[in-house]
Amino acid sequence: MARGREDYEKHPGLLKLLQILSFLVVFVVGVVIGLATSAHINRHFGSQTEIYSFINHFSANKPHKEKNCTTVQVSDKVDCISMETFLQPKNLTHGLSDDELFWRASMVPQKPEFPFERVPKVAFMFLTRGPLPLLPLWERFFHGHDKYFSIYVHVIPGYELNVSTTSPFYQRQIPSQPVSWGTVTLVDAERRLLANALLDFSNERFVLLSESCIPIYNFPTVYKYLIGSNHSYVESYDNPGRYGRGRYSREMFPDIQLYQWRKGSQWFELSRALSVYIVSETKYYTIFSKYCLPACYPDEHYLPTYFNMFHGWLNSNRTVTWVDWSLGGPHPATYGGDNITEDFVRSIRNNGALCQYNAEMTSICYLFARKFAPTALGPLLEFAASVMEY
Ligand SMILES: *[C@@H]1O[C@H](CO)[C@@H](O)[C@H](O)[C@H]1NC(C)=O
Ligand SMILES: *[C@@H]1O[C@H](CO)[C@@H](O)[C@H](O)[C@H]1NC(C)=O
Ligand SMILES: *[C@@H]1O[C@H](CO)[C@@H](O)[C@H](O)[C@H]1NC(C)=O
Ligand SMILES: *[C@@H]1O[C@H](CO)[C@@H](O)[C@H](O)[C@H]1NC(C)=O
Ligand SMILES: *[C@@H]1O[C@H](CO)[C@@H](O)[C@H](O)[C@H]1NC(C)=O
Ligand SMILES: *[C@@H]1O[C@H](CO)[C@@H](O)[C@H](O)[C@H]1NC(C)=O
Repeated sequence: MARGREDYEKHPGLLKLLQILSFLVVFVVGVVIGLATSAHINRHFGSQTEIYSFINHFSANKPHKEKNCTTVQVSDKVDCISMETFLQPKNLTHGLSDDELFWRASMVPQKPEFPFERVPKVAFMFLTRGPLPLLPLWERFFHGHDKYFSIYVHVIPGYELNVSTTSPFYQRQIPSQPVSWGTVTLVDAERRLLANALLDFSNERFVLLSESCIPIYNFPTVYKYLIGSNHSYVESYDNPGRYGRGRYSREMFPDIQLYQWRKGSQWFELSRALSVYIVSETKYYTIFSKYCLPACYPDEHYLPTYFNMFHGWLNSNRTVTWVDWSLGGPHPATYGGDNITEDFVRSIRNNGALCQYNAEMTSICYLFARKFAPTALGPLLEFAASVMEY
């Protein structure tokens, strides 16, 4: 071996020639095989141009085929699998059942890069019984930030939200189903909102709100807080009393155990990843729908318990929606026009407490607040610019 190598080193020109010759032989043989094969294929299947003309002929014979498709302006091509409607349905109307909708919404792209410029958006999901009495305040909050949010409204079926065509709430009603408070149909409505919002691939964070909620910081602050957060905001705590562990049912054992049981506010904020888990999940949803019956309320236990069991490290375990339980009783305090003062609004924005945000502490613990009666609208609009900065 060593000797042979020496020979080559002595005659470098001869080595080059041999190499070139052997490459040539391999190349020529390759070309011959290639030609023979393609001739063979052509004989059996016809040429490529023939295949294409066959397809064109076939389509031309189908009348009105384009009606279901978008005509792309630039090239005049008919585009039946348009990226536009796939990435962001313009029209929220659809005839999908919940099963069909949740299945579609559970799709997650495997490819990490987006073939379009993706501006992450916050989905504001309103779970309402009908009218939105604080609408003017919300419209003011959203004004000028169109690229960064989407709105979804779940109403009582049959109710038509009456808003002006220039409102960001215009035609943002999703196909809704009846909801009976305190039952699992409330969780169904939450999942329905999440699923509809997931169909827009730009939505990155998902906030659940009611008609009595208000934003207490301006849009840029809320957006930055949520988009920049490493955690979701689902309140989740262990309450050993009758309103907490007392609502656990032994029928849930062993799938859910008492030490895993959690309680928390219904008003959540979720990342896209956690939202996909919720619309995709069936096992624990089914357990809750069967065994969490009054005085157990699925909307207060399903998400807190499920996230505690499986995705706890992605959750902050606190809520970003302020509420006042200080009066006691089953319902939180409602604030009307007489109760709203500048100091009150300042105090819910910052009451001196600090909260964990990513690895730091922040004085902003809450972004939204409830519950506000329709009469609160006037005073709230008055303080919107001076206190809430929108
Ligand atoms: C799609 O096109 C077919 C064939 O023209 C038509 O029958 C059908 O109604 C169209 N569907 C919609 C949603 O436009
Ligand atoms: C969405 O489609 C439905 C059914 O075709 C139609 O009634 C409704 O007006 C459309 N809405 C928008 C926003 O185009
Ligand atoms: C919708 O609102 C407008 C303006 O507030 C009002 O004039 C109209 O009567 C309302 N329509 C319905 C159906 O309530
Ligand atoms: C929230 O609770 C989970 C357990 O469910 C825990 O793993 C996680 O660290 C908690 N999150 C924070 C931010 O403390
Ligand atoms: C709001 O004001 C009314 C009337 O002054 C009072 O009765 C009620 O207790 C106040 N509510 C709260 C939550 O402070
Ligand atoms: C948030 O998560 C990102 C990505 O996992 C990580 O690089 C970053 O250090 C985290 N930030 C904080 C403050 O925990």
